[in-house]
Amino acid sequence: KEKAFVMIKPDGVRRGLIGEIVSRFEHKGLKLVRAELKEISRETAQTHYGHLKDKPFFGELVDYITSGMVFAMIVEGQSAVTNSRSLIGPTNPAEAPPGTIRGDYGLDVAENVIHGSDSLDNAAKEIRLFFGRV
Ligand code: GTP
Ligand code: MG
Repeated sequence: KEKAFVMIKPDGVRRGLIGEIVSRFEHKGLKLVRAELKEISRETAQTHYGHLKDKPFFGELVDYITSGMVFAMIVEGQSAVTNSRSLIGPTNPAEAPPGTIRGDYGLDVAENVIHGSDSLDNAAKEIRLFFGRV
């Protein structure tokens, strides 16, 4: 069964959105198979967002993602990667349609509530980075 890595970012955790967001995945039919509320190190954040290291906002992104607890999850089910991305919506919450998580809960492209892996390959890498071998 396909697995995706999903992470509620520190703004989502601070705002008390864990329950609401987890229930959207459950209602969709994606099963929560691992979850952990934790703080991530700067090193983990830099590895996770390594593909963005040349962007002008990279430092700000690492500061944000390490600014508090995240809720890291593995969700499992049919086409878990594409189905979780469609629940999440586009990167910029201002452009995300209502009904998506970012469309319903976000306004800011920097603090956009949630992360979801964008490919099967990256899902496997991110699961290994956050949970080790599962
Ligand atoms: P993730 O699921 O978090 O990977 O988002 P994404 O795949 O929709 O977008 P992308 O991987 O391109 O960007 C990763 C993250 O960088 C975004 O989710 C935002 O948190 C952040 N980000 C993107 N654009 C900007 C920006 O212009 N400014 C700042 N400060 N952060 C940005
Ligand atoms: Mg991404």
